[in-house]
Amino acid sequence: MNPRKIKDNIYWMGFVDWDSRLFDSLIPLPDGTSYNAFLVKGSEKTVLIDAVEEDLFYELEGQLKNVGRLDYIISLHAEQDHSGCIPKLLSMYPEAKLVTSPKAKKILMDLLQVPENAFVTVTDGETLALGGKTLEFIHTPWVHWPETMVAYLREDKILFSCDFFGSHIATSELFVTDEGRVYEAAKRYYAEIMMPFRNVIKKNLEKIAAYDIELIAPSHGQLYPRPSFIIEAQKEWVDGPLRNKVVIPYVSMHRSTSKMVDFLIGSLVDKGVNVEQFNLVVTDIGKLAISLVDAATIVVGTPTVLAGPHPDAVYAAFLANALRPPTRFLSIIGSYGWGGKTVETLAGLIPNLKVEVIDPVLVKGAPTSEAFAALDTLAATIAAKHEELGLA
Ligand code: FEO
Repeated sequence: MNPRKIKDNIYWMGFVDWDSRLFDSLIPLPDGTSYNAFLVKGSEKTVLIDAVEEDLFYELEGQLKNVGRLDYIISLHAEQDHSGCIPKLLSMYPEAKLVTSPKAKKILMDLLQVPENAFVTVTDGETLALGGKTLEFIHTPWVHWPETMVAYLREDKILFSCDFFGSHIATSELFVTDEGRVYEAAKRYYAEIMMPFRNVIKKNLEKIAAYDIELIAPSHGQLYPRPSFIIEAQKEWVDGPLRNKVVIPYVSMHRSTSKMVDFLIGSLVDKGVNVEQFNLVVTDIGKLAISLVDAATIVVGTPTVLAGPHPDAVYAAFLANALRPPTRFLSIIGSYGWGGKTVETLAGLIPNLKVEVIDPVLVKGAPTSEAFAALDTLAATIAAKHEELGLA
């Protein structure tokens, strides 16, 4: 794709990746993604903000063919999807300096073996004058790594935010037109990338509130001509109220656990509690991550297999522990044949979750009326706890 004009002397470059279905060998990409880079030309200096994956260099090289000189390459974030081409860019433009945060310098030297003399590091609030255009660097750690920063182009009121405010969408539309579609994609992105660091993200949101921003240009997905849409959404995800909702990731082998899940869902709904159910054999884990952003309770459903929880349930528990959602309550349900350590194993996988564990319901064999009564009690306990918190 050719460079696309954003404003006078400001261009989108990069790659729209329609076909990828997995990011970081982990994150499902139902709508593909994009790797955005931005060319900004001042009257004196020209900069490229962010790069793309190394194997996409041919695309960036073609887009830069009429750019005779690059004075600076700015790396807002050292992860390779935005930095992979930097060594080749530095060879292509040997006069260019690489502008990073001090922490990013160390990471890029380790990841890409960039020589130390290529770098210019910038402190929080430092500016770079391009001639009629001024970039201000704002250190915003943990969006998504500890070294991340954003760049504010003062004269044009554009915030270049890299992963911050990103979404995984491949589209030919450079700017957001369908905010509903982007809301879900950006929430998925937040859940998978940012949620574990939400306390720092909250501080970063407060920090950028001081800036008059007319356009947010992230390095994944579309650009936001109405920045308040995504800023307000992020505030809600970071610090919004929990929902009166139970998320039930489950797996079943011979329908005993799935019957228990079905019963529990019915009982919760009867008691006014909302539910989102995810069969771990077929689910998109991105959908599960989205559901965890504001769920008050998680109930994991698993059979006992090989004396412990089903491996899919282990994966879900490990993932939830890594994502550190703000969930307040957790329980476990399922069936077993003769014994095992299902509850102990799962409970040991979630040390990061600040949850109150509600008594699990594990039954021997197929669920009986006693098991259903225990599930009814579990549903009542969850409903009462949600009510105590005043969840709507
Ligand atoms: Fe899009 Fe953390 O890289």
